[in-house]
Amino acid sequence: MASISSFPAISSPPISLRKAFFPTWSTSHLQNRFCRLSVSCRYADAGVRDEFNSNAIDVVADIKTERVVVLGGSGFVGSAICKAAISKGIEVISLSRSGRPTFPSPWVDQVTWIPGDVFYVNWDEVLIGATAVVSTLGGFGSEEQMRRINGEANVVAVNAAKEYGIPKFILISVHDYNLPSFLISSGYFSGKRKAESEVLSKYPRSGVVLRPAFIYGKRRVDGFEIPLDLIGEPLERILRATENLTKPLSSLPASDLLLAPPVSVDDVAYAAINAISDDDFFGVFTIEQIKEAAKTRV
Ligand SMILES: NC(=O)c1ccc[n+]([C@@H]2O[C@H](COP(=O)([O-])OP(=O)(O)OC[C@H]3O[C@@H](n4cnc5c(N)ncnc54)[C@H](OP(=O)(O)O)[C@@H]3O)[C@@H](O)[C@H]2O)c1
Repeated sequence: MASISSFPAISSPPISLRKAFFPTWSTSHLQNRFCRLSVSCRYADAGVRDEFNSNAIDVVADIKTERVVVLGGSGFVGSAICKAAISKGIEVISLSRSGRPTFPSPWVDQVTWIPGDVFYVNWDEVLIGATAVVSTLGGFGSEEQMRRINGEANVVAVNAAKEYGIPKFILISVHDYNLPSFLISSGYFSGKRKAESEVLSKYPRSGVVLRPAFIYGKRRVDGFEIPLDLIGEPLERILRATENLTKPLSSLPASDLLLAPPVSVDDVAYAAINAISDDDFFGVFTIEQIKEAAKTRV
């Protein structure tokens, strides 16, 4: 005789899992983040009473049900997010025009790579069953191109996610660098702000907007690795060490172009991953808050 039952776990997961997935634990997480699959099997030979049967097996396993869609998972930030999610046992689907990246890495084999353009994709192939969407869509070009990829592309994605009932949307946006308003109205920044408003209005209680400044790490371009961390890491340390001296300058327009601390690509990735798993993470995250949100990494 075999019986299988699936029901939401009503007891807390082990502490290690709780720390990994629920930095600030509350019972609201129990509803949709974990599913306990209980499998109970009993084998009895003919004529043998069940209570004497030594072959009885009870298996109880906690199954993670997170399934994240990373828009732009093949990019610099996107691939760090995919890698971090895989390391946490989260199922990952990436959508980008180029699809699967060419570099070999064990985590690459564990991601489902969907080639496609966010403006033309069949969302059924991407979003069904997802529990969160992380968008890294963005970039530079003409004013029109920047408005389209930073703004409209994300607006399309947010609305698709909402329509498919995805409970969480995380947008990788950008720090405002304390720029004067005529620069903030450029295609890049106005696109970003449009995307942010869409996330915050469609996901007022669960949407996350990360606003990093310069992101450092190893960026792959045409098969070569550019070690941006050689600049980013020391710069971050210097700016932190001189924080008290430079503070008075921060009210000057555009001063953050020099003074905003860089952030590592892994911090951005883990902040996004922790935001997926923690229902208490929502709203706009500044550079400092991104670093803080990444800290619960285990
Ligand atoms: N890097 C930084 O220092 C930094 C700093 C602050 C904020 N940000 C923001 O962080 C985000 C990620 O930056 P990144 O440096 O990782 O950029 P990236 O390497 O250029 O990655 C962008 C990703 O988006 C995909 N993409 C572009 N257009 C698409 C479309 N129409 N449909 C589907 N996928 C599309 C790209 O793949 P395909 O081209 O193959 O489609 C790529 O995978 C951006 O929004 C950027 O503005 C970056």
